[in-house]
Amino acid sequence: MSKQFDVIVIGGGPGGYIAAIRAAQLGKNVACVDEWKNAKGGPAPGGTCTNVGCIPSKALLQSSEHFEQVSHHFGDHGIEVKGLSMDAAKMVARKDGVVKQNNDGILYLFKKNKVSFFHGRASFVKAVDGGYEIKVAGTSEETLLGQQIIVATGSNARALPGTPFDESMVLSNEGALAMTSVPKKLGLIGSGVIGLEMGSVWRRLGAEVTILEGLPDFLGAVDQQIAKEAKKAFDKQGLKIELGVKVGEIKVGKKSVNVAWTNAKGEAQTLEVDKLIVSIGRVPNTIGLNVEAVGLKVDERGAIVVDGDCRTNLPGVWAVGDVVRGPMLAHKAEEEGVAVAERIAGQHGHVNFNTIPWVIYTSPEIAWVGRTEQQLKTDGVAYKSGTFPFLANGRARALGDTTGMVKMLADATTDEILGVHIVGPMASELIAECVLAMEFRASSEDIARVCHAHPSLSESTKEAALAVDKRTLNF
Ligand code: FAD
Ligand code: NAI
Repeated sequence: MSKQFDVIVIGGGPGGYIAAIRAAQLGKNVACVDEWKNAKGGPAPGGTCTNVGCIPSKALLQSSEHFEQVSHHFGDHGIEVKGLSMDAAKMVARKDGVVKQNNDGILYLFKKNKVSFFHGRASFVKAVDGGYEIKVAGTSEETLLGQQIIVATGSNARALPGTPFDESMVLSNEGALAMTSVPKKLGLIGSGVIGLEMGSVWRRLGAEVTILEGLPDFLGAVDQQIAKEAKKAFDKQGLKIELGVKVGEIKVGKKSVNVAWTNAKGEAQTLEVDKLIVSIGRVPNTIGLNVEAVGLKVDERGAIVVDGDCRTNLPGVWAVGDVVRGPMLAHKAEEEGVAVAERIAGQHGHVNFNTIPWVIYTSPEIAWVGRTEQQLKTDGVAYKSGTFPFLANGRARALGDTTGMVKMLADATTDEILGVHIVGPMASELIAECVLAMEFRASSEDIARVCHAHPSLSESTKEAALAVDKRTLNF
């Protein structure tokens, strides 16, 4: 006999597991189905984010940053370290441990919130009276009946046409996070978020890294003043980024990969590397979901079609996270998951797409919220701009990390903050204050009048706000 639920969530990534927990908190009888397997074949909920995305990449970024600090910066503090070495396999094993802690944490949260977890692949069977029949194929087969279905099946790495991932020589994010030795020469296609984060990890550990980027502008979606500052820092670190390239034939050998490419001047080039990471974006994932069985609408990119509230074309079927439109970010998936669970429970779930922060966890970190200067110009919005360099911040000088700046953009008439763009130390943490300010529709004057602790990096945000009104105190 089939098991009946008020809500069945398909996918246990940040969109799915958070939706399941919130729906259970609101009194619903909830099932969450996820197919991810750990090395032993057991369940590993948390999706891309936990297993091969946000969490493992940040673990490796932290380890490699420690190595970089000891190698190049401890000397400035009078600390001399002799006989320094790097055990990449141990670093990767630590990363696996961090991932497991998160997998176990989610299983614990399911128990705590009485969410029934099923390990296996879920697919639509048919619409039934008052809901949908879902088949789960795992170690055993189950049939579930759900009144409401939330699809949160995430995304997969996009491969270059004709060059499939083998995760040995040509790597997606999965292989890039699992290398147990440092390649001498590493190539990456795409200098987006993954290209920069993964390129930074392996450069810090000693690889000679070359990133080939198709677009002529570096980080085209980022405020260009901030992107230029970041590029300067990456150039100085020796991260080689070629812009405006055309990637041609890729020959994959047993020991090396040969990439033919054309530079921005149209000159033919070749790049021979030990490993090639392809990070050219991700595609929404509906593989094996059997959307045809119920007529769930998918667009030409493979994304499930939803409205602003994550409703699909089918009554009682919702979709959230990477499998729908919008930025492919864990916190965006979570916000949508919470909002959908609340809508199912008759509440008014809310996601403010204008205040979703972005962070690139390189060194310097890059973080932003709201519109860039280019966007404001395109939109014809009159704005004021204020910048403050970390060079003039006492805490940044004490840390020994004065790269970058905070840039604030505010409406020329109302002074409402329209965007904040940061490149520099701890930008990932500093952006939170700016997101909160924008959520409350604060003005730059509001931030300028808030008392910030001294000495702290956050004083740079206050000074950037003062700079909007041309009255910085420390610059
Ligand atoms: P996913 O996390 O992809 O989860 C989907 C889950 O559904 C998976 O477990 C999958 O196995 C399961 N599934 C799919 N189909 C079925 C089925 N039919 N039956 C059962 N289960 C199924 N975002 C950030 O915000 N910050 C970061 O720092 C960050 N770093 C990243 C680093 C890397 C290398 C990558 C690749 C991504 C990163 N992201 C980051 C993006 C983030 O991982 C995604 O936006 C996020 O995981 C999307 O969540 P989701 O729940 O929509 O999907
Ligand atoms: P991306 O969209 O960030 O960057 C892809 C880059 O590849 C772009 O600059 C694009 O111009 C370039 N490109 C595309 N096709 C190309 C080609 N044929 N030749 C050369 N260059 C080409 O995608 P990425 O880095 O794969 O990451 C996927 C997504 O994962 C991100 O968009 C983001 O949503 C998420 N992510 C988020 C992180 C974070 O929040 N810190 C970290 C890592 C990933």
